[in-house]
Amino acid sequence: MKAVVITKPGKPEVLVVEDRPVPVVKHDEVLIRVYAAGVNRPDVFQRKGNYPPPPGAPQDIPGLEVAGTVELCGSSVQNWKKGDAVCALLAGGGYAEFAVVHARHCLPVPDHFSFVEAASLPETVFTVWHNVFQRGNLKKGEHFLVHGGSSGIGITAIQLAKGLGAKVFATAGSDEKCEACVALGAHLCINYKKENFEEVLKTEGVDLILDMVGGDYIPKNIRLLRVDGRLVFINTMKGNKVRQVEGQPLDEVDFGLIMRNRLTLTGSTLRNRDVAFKATLTEEILENVWPFMNNGKFKPVVFREFPLNEAAQAHALMEHSGHIGKIILTNSW
Ligand SMILES: NC(=O)c1ccc[n+]([C@@H]2O[C@H](COP(=O)([O-])OP(=O)(O)OC[C@H]3O[C@@H](n4cnc5c(N)ncnc54)[C@H](OP(=O)(O)O)[C@@H]3O)[C@@H](O)[C@H]2O)c1
Repeated sequence: MKAVVITKPGKPEVLVVEDRPVPVVKHDEVLIRVYAAGVNRPDVFQRKGNYPPPPGAPQDIPGLEVAGTVELCGSSVQNWKKGDAVCALLAGGGYAEFAVVHARHCLPVPDHFSFVEAASLPETVFTVWHNVFQRGNLKKGEHFLVHGGSSGIGITAIQLAKGLGAKVFATAGSDEKCEACVALGAHLCINYKKENFEEVLKTEGVDLILDMVGGDYIPKNIRLLRVDGRLVFINTMKGNKVRQVEGQPLDEVDFGLIMRNRLTLTGSTLRNRDVAFKATLTEEILENVWPFMNNGKFKPVVFREFPLNEAAQAHALMEHSGHIGKIILTNSW
C-alpha cells in the first residue's frame, strides 16, 4: 500500500509517500480501507519530533483518525463485517491506503455524513467528550469557554457544549474565525489579538475552560473561574510554564483562588490511553454523541481537502493557522 511517512523530524517536506506492507490484523482488530484521514495538530507535533507515538502504534506513519470501509475482520470480531462504513480513532497510521484499528474503537459513519466529514470526527469528538463532559463535567446552563474556538477541537467543543445547553464563549485569532464560532453556536467569541479575554468575561465569569494555549493564559483562566470552576488542559501551546510577557509585569498564579473558589485543575492526553479506556469511550460516544450526529444538529466543518500525497501542503496550512475547522486528506493519489 501507499503511505505517507515521516522520514525524519522536520518541516512539512519530510512527509514522503512510500510503499509499505498492508498492516496485519490481530484477532480483535479490523483492517480499514481508508477513504479519508483527518489532520490534527498532534500530527504536526509528531512530525517535528515533539510527540512520539506510544509503543505498539505505527512509529513513522502519522494519522489519528480515518473513515472508510471494513476490508477484513480479525477472528474474534463480531460487531463489524466487510464493507461496513466506519470512522475510527487510531494511535497512528491513518495517512495510508489501509489502517488497522481495534474493532471497539470504530463507530458507524453517521447518517448523511460523507467519508470526508466522518473522518473529521473521531479525534476531536473523543477529546472533547472526555475533557469537557467527563473530566470537566459540563452541565446545562453553565458558562463554558474554549480557547482556539476555530480549531478542529474548538468547532467540536462549541457545538457539543451548545447542544447540551451551556452558554458558550470562545477565543480565536481573527474576526473571521470569531464569526465562524458564533455561527456554530458561541454566544460570544473574543478576538484575542484585539481584546483581553479576561477583561471581556470577568463580569460574567466561567464555570469550565477548555485550554490548549497555557503560558500567560493560565493565571487569567484561574481568575476567570467561578466558584467550583474547572480548568481542563489539552495542550499548552504557549508553554507549560507561566512566563513573563514582554513589556508586561509577571502575572503570577494565585493558588489562594483555587482554595477560596474550590477550583479543579486537570487535563489529559488521549493518544497514550489504553485500549480498554478508548473502547469504553467509544461506547459512551456512540450512546451520547452519535444521536446528535445522526439528527443533523452537528455541522462538520471541513476547511479543505488534500490528496494524501499532498500531506506536506496540508501540514503547512495547519501550521499557518489560517484554517477554520478541519483539514482532511483523501485517498486520491
Ligand atoms: N490532549 C489531547 O488529547 C488532545 C487531542 C487532540 C488535540 N489536542 C490539542 O488541541 C489543540 C487543537 O488541536 P487541533 O487539531 O484542533 O488543531 P488546530 O485546528 O490546528 O487548532 C489549533 C488552534 O490554536 C490556535 N493557536 C495556535 N497557536 C496559538 C497561540 N500561541 N495562542 C493562541 N491560540 C493559538 C490557532 O488559532 P488562532 O488563529 O485562533 O490562534 C488554531 O486554530 C492542539 O493544541 C492539540 O495539540 C489535544
